[in-house]
Amino acid sequence: MIFTEHITGMEIVRLVAETKAKISKFKAEGKTIGFVPTMGALHQGHLSLTEASVKNNDITIVSIFVNPTQFNNPNDLTSYPRTLEDDLEKLSIYNPDLIFIPEVNEIYPEPDTRIFDFGLLDSVMEGKNRPGHFNGVAQVVSRLFDIVTPNDAYFGQKDFQQVSVIKQMVKDLKLNVNIVPCPIVREKDGLAMSSRNVLLSKEQRKNASKISETLFKACNLAGELNVTQLKNWVVEEINKNSYLSVEYFEIVDDTTLEQVKDWNESNNKVGCITVQVGKVRLIDNVTF
Ligand code: PAF
Repeated sequence: MIFTEHITGMEIVRLVAETKAKISKFKAEGKTIGFVPTMGALHQGHLSLTEASVKNNDITIVSIFVNPTQFNNPNDLTSYPRTLEDDLEKLSIYNPDLIFIPEVNEIYPEPDTRIFDFGLLDSVMEGKNRPGHFNGVAQVVSRLFDIVTPNDAYFGQKDFQQVSVIKQMVKDLKLNVNIVPCPIVREKDGLAMSSRNVLLSKEQRKNASKISETLFKACNLAGELNVTQLKNWVVEEINKNSYLSVEYFEIVDDTTLEQVKDWNESNNKVGCITVQVGKVRLIDNVTF
C-alpha cells in the first residue's frame, strides 16, 4: 500500500467510519460526490466511468470490493481476477479523490439477509441463469450508497440488466442517487471490455470477437428477418464457432425487460446475450 500511495498520491481508505467522515467533510464544503463502484480488475470501461465522474462532480470516489454475495458460483468468486496494484496505477491517471477498499466484514459486519423483489427485472436472462446474483448486487450497492451517499453513481451499460435492477432499487428504497449509465467500451476487434476477458486463453480471446461481430451484423439484419428468425440466426451463427456456446440471446424492451416478439411491440429494443467461452461467461448487448 505504501508503494501505491507513493506512486499515485491517491487517498486509500479501508474503513467505513473513516470513509463516512471524509464524505461528511466534503458535503459540508458543498461538494458534489460522484461514485464508481467496482470489483477491481479495472479496464478502460471502468476508467471511462471514473473519467465521467471526475468531469461532472467535485469529488470522485471509486470503490474496489469483490462482493461475495453476488457470486452464485463459488468457483467464479475464487477465480475472479484481483489486480489491486495495477488498478491503482490505472486510476491514478484520472486522479479520483478517494479509493475505498473495504474488507468483507466492513461491508457486512453481519450477514445481509435482505431479499429484494425486482419482479421481471431480475427473473429473466442473468437473473434466471444466476439465481441470487442481482439480490447480491442490490445488497452491496445499497450498502455502498449508504456509506458514500453519492449524488451521481456511474455504471457500465455492458451490464445492461444490472443498470435496470439498480435503477429500480433506487426507486424502491427512495434513495436520492442519480444513476448514470455509460456506453460499453470495446476492444479494437469489438469484444466488450470485461474484467473476465483476462481469464480467456489466447485462442478463446481471438474467437470471442465473434460475439460482438454477430450482434453488429444482427442489427443490420433486423429489417429483413422477424424477431424469432433473427434470434435463431444469432444463436446458430455464434454456436458455429467451436469455442463459443450461447447461454441465451433475448431481445427485450429496454425498460421493462419484457421479451419482444414483434419489431413493432417496443420502440426501444435491446438484444442481450451471454456466451460461455470455455469456463468464462461473457455478456454483451446491442440496441436495435
Ligand atoms: O458491476 C460490477 O462490477 C458489480 O456488480 C458492482 C456494481 C460493483 C457491485 O459489486
